[in-house]
Amino acid sequence: METQIRQLREGDDRNSFDCGVDSMNEWIRHVANQHQKKNLSRTYVAAASSAPRTIAGYYALAATAVETDGMRGAKLPRSASAVLLARLAVDVRHHGQGLGEFLLMHALNVVLKASGRVGVQCVIVDALDDNAAGFYRKYGFEPFTDAPRRLFLPVATIEQA
Ligand SMILES: CC(C)(COP(=O)(O)OP(=O)(O)OC[C@H]1O[C@@H](n2cnc3c(N)ncnc32)[C@H](O)[C@@H]1OP(=O)(O)O)[C@@H](O)C(=O)NCCC(=O)NCCS
Repeated sequence: METQIRQLREGDDRNSFDCGVDSMNEWIRHVANQHQKKNLSRTYVAAASSAPRTIAGYYALAATAVETDGMRGAKLPRSASAVLLARLAVDVRHHGQGLGEFLLMHALNVVLKASGRVGVQCVIVDALDDNAAGFYRKYGFEPFTDAPRRLFLPVATIEQA
């Protein structure tokens, strides 16, 4: 399947998306477009070229600021600029085929490009559960010492990859 990642469009079929987690399904169905219109977040979807309106997976990014107290590593001011990876989900019909990794790599590349124009210290994610935290740790995200399901990845680490 040839899959492309692009920004969410009005005509996309958001209702048939099912990643197995109700809150993630509801978000793409009812919230993503509204947030896009209000410039609160940008949603990117993966779609096969054979079914361009069907969402196989998605992620959303939003600008944020993060308290650095729980971050190990470089000395930083108390608050730092960050991009929140607000959602990342793959339809159950495509689980285990590398699409989650493809979406995550695309998201990190978008952040890297943005950081060349606007300072971004790190990417932040709030994992749904310990399993999801394991997924992010696999790609170098580290947990905050004071909130183990909140993880961060410095842009400097993405640059070195
Ligand atoms: C988590 C999720 C995005 C992974 O997507 P996917 O397309 O199935 O994952 P991939 O096939 O790209 O897997 C990439 C790697 O991550 C691992 N992985 C996948 N899901 C994982 C999980 N839940 N926990 C830990 N590792 C996981 C895979 O084993 C694979 O590693 P390998 O290459 O060493 O075998 C998907 O299961 C999903 O949408 N879950 C429901 C929503 C969710 O939990 N999102 C996380 C947001 S907080």
